Amino acid sequence: MSGKARVRGAALLAVAAVVLAGCGDSGSDDSGGGGTASGALEGRGPIKFATGKDTSGNMQKLVDEWNADHPDEKVEIVELPEAADEQRNQMIQNAQAESKEFTVLNLDVVWTAEFAANRWVVELPQDEFDLENFLEPAVNTGKYRDKMYAVPVYSDGGLLYYRKDLLDAAGVAEPPKTWDEMQEACTKVQATNAAIGCYAGQFDKYEGLTVNFSEAVQSAGGNILDESGKPTVNTQEAKDGLNFLVEGMKSKMIPQAAITYKEEEGRRAFQDGQLIFHRQWPYQYALANATDGSSKVAGKFEVAPLPGKDSPGVSTLGGHNFAISAFAENKATALDFIKFFNSEEAQKSNVLATSQAPTRTSLYDDAELLEQFPYLSTLKESILNAVPRPQAVKYGDVTAAMQEAAYGAMTGETSTDDALAELQTKLESLTAQ
Ligand code: GLC
Repeated sequence: MSGKARVRGAALLAVAAVVLAGCGDSGSDDSGGGGTASGALEGRGPIKFATGKDTSGNMQKLVDEWNADHPDEKVEIVELPEAADEQRNQMIQNAQAESKEFTVLNLDVVWTAEFAANRWVVELPQDEFDLENFLEPAVNTGKYRDKMYAVPVYSDGGLLYYRKDLLDAAGVAEPPKTWDEMQEACTKVQATNAAIGCYAGQFDKYEGLTVNFSEAVQSAGGNILDESGKPTVNTQEAKDGLNFLVEGMKSKMIPQAAITYKEEEGRRAFQDGQLIFHRQWPYQYALANATDGSSKVAGKFEVAPLPGKDSPGVSTLGGHNFAISAFAENKATALDFIKFFNSEEAQKSNVLATSQAPTRTSLYDDAELLEQFPYLSTLKESILNAVPRPQAVKYGDVTAAMQEAAYGAMTGETSTDDALAELQTKLESLTAQ
């Protein structure tokens, strides 16, 4: 990744955190209802941990370890739906009802501002975490107005999964760096295998589409927001980015079924041998390499940085942070449980079992992990250069507007120009101070 891209990523991170932090904030104060020391987080006893679907089973394993050592402070997993938007809805319903049901919340990195400003989660004591040992972009996603509300547990960066066996057989020596090179590689592979799809990502109308749309724009040299936080989707670069997806659907470079793909549908298609290229998060690496018969592509694929219009692409920053519900009991237990989950040991076991991106920097240099996951350095670069999504208090409206624009254009209901002009107007009003 170029130095320029890195600087741009860092600048946007700062902008997203500072300029948009107050977006839509209707008078909530900064305290988030928590304390500045763990003393303010009181109460010990059983707690519930609300989290998206545990596709690996490792989360339950770690919880079992905790429970064995803490018989009076047991943690029970409450498994929420697979899709990010549905998880958010359930957590918000719970918070609005001021329910005690959820104690620890596994928050997507884009929800911090909304949950903190609404005082649905408590402030956490920064000095009790060794935050200097974590990837900085990941730490920043847990902050709102310089205070910490959520602790980074795992990060996410987009990667290009590609069928190395098929590229080799077609005489394509290197994974593509640009969209044109990707199309050329597909044409060569499809010459002898017409049924296989070229490329898919997460294109169903949900948070994953916001991610893939942003990445397309960034990978064409544009951005959703400029360096001062102003929306910039009415630009040639944004049009080029969205057109990559729109034209891809039209030309069938993207198989039509991919408009219904979230992470798991796409993973199943890739594992079933239906795709040459797949934009996906790191968690797919371990599952697609499983040798228990669940994957037809184990040992046949590798990962590379995302391709872009004229040079390698720029990922959107993903990941998950743990927070404590403002309405929960036993907050002292919750804080200890987060520390346990965030420890180097727990994160390492999680990487080994799930191939998810750790947030502790040292794990990217861990010899055992590097041996099993040689792409960890590509992943670290992807994350350090990744661009965060807008950190808006009204994030639900921001992401809905982005999904609407991308989905409308990809399904041919709206032209790219109209979709982006409308999105520009919506984002301007949503991000106005
Ligand atoms: C992953 C990412 C998250 C993103 C989601 C979209 O879970 O970690 O940040 O919002 O995918 O589907």
